[in-house]
Amino acid sequence: MKVLITGVAGFIGSTAAEKLLDLGNDVVGIDAITDYYDQSIKRRNLSALDRDGFTFIEGDLNELPLAEIVGSVDAVVHLAGQPGVRSSWGADFGIYTRANVDATQRLLEAAKLGGNLRRFVYASSSSIYGQADVYPTDETMVPRPFSPYGVTKLAGEHLTSLYRENFGVPSVSFRFFTVYGPRQRPDMAFSRFLTAAEAGSPITVYGDGKQIRDFTFVDDIVAALIASIQTSGELPPVMNLAGGSSVSVLEVLDTISSVTGRELKLDFQPAVDGDVVKTGGSSVLARSSLSWSPTVDVASGIARQYAWMSAL
Ligand code: NAD
Ligand code: UGA
Repeated sequence: MKVLITGVAGFIGSTAAEKLLDLGNDVVGIDAITDYYDQSIKRRNLSALDRDGFTFIEGDLNELPLAEIVGSVDAVVHLAGQPGVRSSWGADFGIYTRANVDATQRLLEAAKLGGNLRRFVYASSSSIYGQADVYPTDETMVPRPFSPYGVTKLAGEHLTSLYRENFGVPSVSFRFFTVYGPRQRPDMAFSRFLTAAEAGSPITVYGDGKQIRDFTFVDDIVAALIASIQTSGELPPVMNLAGGSSVSVLEVLDTISSVTGRELKLDFQPAVDGDVVKTGGSSVLARSSLSWSPTVDVASGIARQYAWMSAL
C-alpha cells in the first residue's frame, strides 16, 4: 500500500511511518515542521525515515496541492495538527483552528475527489469528552470539550464524519488518550518528568497531582491505525483508543522514581485551565471492530521511554 501520513515529523506520525515502512508499505509524508517545539527534534524524527519507500513533502496542509497528493495514495492517516491542551487559550487559538480545523477540511475536500481511498484516518482526542460523567467513557457520551484545543479537535472529528456521510469518504476517527513512549513531545508530562528526573531538577506538578489519565503507549496507537487501513470493511465512524490503565500523576511519578532510580523533587503549581480531572476510556468498540486492545502497561511503557531517552 501507499499511505499518506500528515504530521510525519511529529511524535506519533514518525512512529507510524517507521512501522508502515518496516511492513513493506510506501509512505508519503507531509509536515510543515512547525515551531511549537524544537524543530531539530522533528528533523531527527525524519532522519529515521530516510530510506527506500519514503517520500517527504515539506509544507503546510493549508497551502499544498492536496488533490494531486491524495489522488496518488491508497490511504490517508491524518496526524498533522496543533496539539497541547494547556497552551490553547488566548491569542494562539488561531494557530489551533488553522491547523486542526481548516487543514482537516482542506484534506477532506481532496479525499472527496480521490475516489480510490480505502481509508481516511483522523487523529481525534480524549479531550473532546472534557469532564466526563461516566467512566470508562464510551463513544456514546455527548462530547463536552473543556479546552479550546478540545473544541478544535472535535470540529475536525465532526468534519471527518460528515464527509463520510455526505460523500462516502471511508473515514474513521480515533480518540487517542494521552499518548506516550519514545519520541514523545517535549511539552508532555512523561517527557518533562523524565528529563527533570535525569537532570535532578524540580518537577512541575500541576494541581495536587491526583488528576488521572488513561495513558496509552504509542506502539499500541500505531497498531490500531495500521489495522484500520489493512481492513477493507466498514468501520464505526468514531472509536476510542485508551491504554486501559487510568493512573494519577503522583502514581506516575512513583514509577518514574523507581525506573530512573532517582529521588524526585516535586514543585506543586496551580492547576492549569483546561486540564480535566480524569480521563478513562472504554476500548470495547475498537476491540470488537479491529480486534485491538492495548498491550503495554504504564510501568513497562515508562521504562521503554526512559531507555529510548537515555540512548539519545
Ligand atoms: P506532534 O506535534 O509531535 O505532531 C504533529 C505534526 O504536525 C508536527 O510535526 C507539526 O509540524 C505538523 N503540523 C502541524 N500543523 C501542520 C500543517 N498545517 N501542515 C502540515 N503539518 C502540520 O503531535 P503528536 O503528539 O504526534 O500528535 C499527532 C496528532 O494526534 C495531533 O493531531 C494531535 O492532536 C493528536 N493527538 C495526540 C495525542 C497525544 O497524546 N500525543 C492525544 C490525542 C490526539
Ligand atoms: C495529551 C496531549 O498533549 C494532547 O495533545 C492530547 O490531545 C491529549 O493528551 C488527549 O488525550 O486528548 P494531556 O493529557 O494534558 O494531553 O497530557 P500530558 O501533557 O502528558 O499531561 C498529563 C497530565 O500531567 C496532565 O494532567 C497535566 O496537568 C500533568 N502535567 C503535565 C504536570 O503535572 N506537569 C507537567 O509538567 C506536565
